[in-house]
Amino acid sequence: MSRVRRGRRASIALLLLCALVSMLLTACQGVRKEEEKTSIRIGISLYRGDDTFINNIRSIIEEKAKEYERESGIKVTLDIQDAKGSQNTQNNQVERFISLGCDVLCINPVDRMDTSLIIDRAMTAGVPVVFFNRQPVEEDMNRWDKLYYIGVDAKETAVLQGEMVVDLYRKEPEAVDINGDGVVSYVMLEGESSHQDSLIRTEWSVQTLKDGKVPIEKITGGIANWERSQASALMEQWLADYPDTIELVISNNDDMALGAIDALERADVMGVNVIGIDGTTPGLEALESGKLLGTVSANKELYGSAIVELAASCALQEELPSEYPLTDDTYFWTPQEILVTKIKENP
Ligand code: BGC
Repeated sequence: MSRVRRGRRASIALLLLCALVSMLLTACQGVRKEEEKTSIRIGISLYRGDDTFINNIRSIIEEKAKEYERESGIKVTLDIQDAKGSQNTQNNQVERFISLGCDVLCINPVDRMDTSLIIDRAMTAGVPVVFFNRQPVEEDMNRWDKLYYIGVDAKETAVLQGEMVVDLYRKEPEAVDINGDGVVSYVMLEGESSHQDSLIRTEWSVQTLKDGKVPIEKITGGIANWERSQASALMEQWLADYPDTIELVISNNDDMALGAIDALERADVMGVNVIGIDGTTPGLEALESGKLLGTVSANKELYGSAIVELAASCALQEELPSEYPLTDDTYFWTPQEILVTKIKENP
């Protein structure tokens, strides 16, 4: 072998050795840095800060972050921003979180079909993302193994919502078929059409009523975008268009159910059953006073603590907490329960 070739081999070997030593040094520094981490910064962006359900979840996240801080001794800084329904604003908030050195992002996307920019930025910066409530499309979620989603299973919610009426109908048919004509006439209030929950909740609540042999008939329905005032306006119109007909209001969430109740009260109509979803604070008050027949509530304590604990473990690069088992290493589905008034009153 020529001397020149031998010399070249020796320098390649030396280069490889240097690279190996530098990799080892970086890895050791990384470990030391992680060992020293006593504080974490979490950037949170809400699709709309004035959404009742999201507001409930926000309070629980704040509470759970304090609890985590007390128990772990790790300082948690939450930077919570309201995207006010603008994806552009949310993208800018993500930019800012990353430039401020957030260790992890918790994002409630404005447009769940348009999370690619957020994911691009997070991946480039190596910052994990915990999405919640508005589920990004699968194709986006599959782009990186540091993307997570926390929410509720929409079909399960809807089946539970339908079951509460099926149960009541079996025990007390006259409490559901109020005018006793053998048919339960209902109206449907739907959330945003682009939200994964709206379509599935609408379809499966009705299917569950049919499967449970409740004789239902749809009078009409409409999209009220999760909002109390929009639902109230729709219901007012329906009460005028179909007087003395509506027996049941099925709503995709509590806020719209409350809107329907507002309209019923304004029109002085009594006895119509209204069912919601969420178990929000005002929803539970309406349940307590008997205005709302029932709701389906996610375990919000668990919902909030899953967001905080998952985010904290990502930030600390620790193993993910086993109390929150992830489907496909990505999704945490929060358990839910039915909360009703009339069934409890008439066991
Ligand atoms: C909730 C709604 C809420 C919406 C916001 C749904 O899962 O049921 O109350 O407005 O999420 O994304």
